[in-house]
Order: sequence, then structure tokens, then C-alpha cells
Amino acid sequence: MVFLNGRFLPIEQAMVPVLDRGFIFGDGVYELIPVYSRAPFRMDEHLARLERSLAAVRIKNPYSREQWRGIILELVAKQPWEDQGVYFQVTRGVAKRDHAFPAGAEPTVFVMCNPLVNPPKELVEKGAVAVSAADNRWLRCDIKSISLIGNCLLRQVSADAGAVETILFRDGKLTEASASNVFVAKNGLLLSPPKSNLILPGITYDVVVEIAQATKIPLEFRDVSEAEVRSADEIWLTSSSKEILAVVTLDGKPVGEGKPGALFRKAYAGYQDFKARVMRKEAVSA
Ligand SMILES: Cc1ncc(COP(=O)(O)O)c(C=O)c1O
Repeated sequence: MVFLNGRFLPIEQAMVPVLDRGFIFGDGVYELIPVYSRAPFRMDEHLARLERSLAAVRIKNPYSREQWRGIILELVAKQPWEDQGVYFQVTRGVAKRDHAFPAGAEPTVFVMCNPLVNPPKELVEKGAVAVSAADNRWLRCDIKSISLIGNCLLRQVSADAGAVETILFRDGKLTEASASNVFVAKNGLLLSPPKSNLILPGITYDVVVEIAQATKIPLEFRDVSEAEVRSADEIWLTSSSKEILAVVTLDGKPVGEGKPGALFRKAYAGYQDFKARVMRKEAVSA
């Protein structure tokens, strides 16, 4: 069962006209919320980011925060899985093809759930292989746009190399990865690029920051040079589906000791703990 423009229906029956600006221009924004034991994780933060993305691309938000919550919870309840990923997107709607915004088009809203696939235990324990590439995307990476061709091309660089992610550098500095944020640890200090137009403000990024504060891992937000990444003791990827994942090889060279580091293990345990606590609280109030 999926949700399309106000109706719940089987995915095979969910149809969008070919003139939808999402199809023609990639003119829309999206979100993905992880759901654990049927409780959406950080739903309000994801909805707040959706509101910011919609405002940035000047698409009318078709629903209030409360209505969004209702749709998501209703769709989650209709699925057979306990843990899910709720994907939802809003496009500028259907109109004769013209770059300028159409007058009077209604946004198209699509929501679907899939089983949540987190990294398998073996990958968490052994760590991931990553490669790097130049970040050649546009300068509004803070908008969660469905125009993802730049990210897809960059992700394919790692897919072609049999790696899990592509870590991106712009002008000699770390930005993020093709579908995740990146943290780096050196001499016990955790570093991350500050939020800016060059990275997506990850919800998991914020969770990791809270965990670092709660577990007393010193953390600095500042530009991280390519050289610092390449000589880091630890590199982490963070995203709603990857949670926190250690990178143990970058461009064929071992990161630190070539296995997930001590800070990663602390943060990963913190994440699982934190998730369980928050979920229990959310499960009661949801
Ligand atoms: C480019 C990019 N950066 C970062 C992230 C991580 O964001 P979040 O933690 O909200 O999933 C994603 C997630 O899809 C992404 O696509």
C-alpha cells in the first residue's frame, strides 16, 4: 500500500502523469524516515527538513505537520514490516513543459514504505570500503532535491569499484559522501564539516553530535582538509539507513589500523542505545 495525492492504494495502481514536473525536470524534494518497531525515528526533524526543502524550492507544502504525521503513521500501520523506511516526495505537480513555475499546479505527493535495510552485522564489525571523488554537484546540496543525477553518478564510482560509498572533496576539503555525511577522527578528536550549502544537514549527523556530547567524545565542526581525511585514524559514514558505519579502506589504503576504531565502537553502541531509548519514548507517545 502506498499513498498518492490523498489516496491509499496498491503500488501497481499508483500512476503519475508523464507531464509531472518530477518526471520532466526532477522538480521536487524528498525525505526518508527510518521506522523501528513501527515508530518513526526523528519524524519531526525529518518533517522540519522537508519544510525547509519545500520553502527553498518554492513548492507549496500541501499538508500541515500534523497531517504529514497522520499520513505517515497510517501508511506505516498498513505495512507487514516492523522496521521500515518511509520514502516520501513532493513535486511541483503536472503542467505543460516550461521551465518557469506553472500557475495553479497542485503538488504531487507520493509516500511509500519499504523494509528497512541497515548494514549487516558483518559490515558493521569489519567496516566498509570507500573510494573518493571530486564533489561536482550543484551548490545547494543542503536541499534534499529529487534531482539526484549528480549523487547517482558519484555513487556509481564506488559501485563500479565494489565499494560502499564515495567520499567527496571540493576545493581540497571534505564535504560529505554520495548518500551520507562523513565524520573523521584523529588523536581522539572527532571532526566534521559544519553545515552549509555544500552538505545535506543529516538527521543522523545531529544524532551523532548528540551521542558525541553525551559520551564525551570531543567534537569540532570545521573544514576538514583532504590530507586530514587521508591521514585520519577513523572515518565514519552516517545516514538514516547506514546509521553509523566505519570506513576501513579509502582508495585502497587502510584507514588507521584498517579496522573499525575505538571511537566508532563507542558511538555505534551509543547510537543503538540512544535509538532504543528514544524509540521506547516515542512508542509510548505515538
Ligand atoms: C547526500 C546525503 N548526505 C547525507 C545524508 C544523510 O542524511 P540523513 O542522516 O538525514 O539520512 C543523505 C541521506 O540520504 C544524503 O543523501
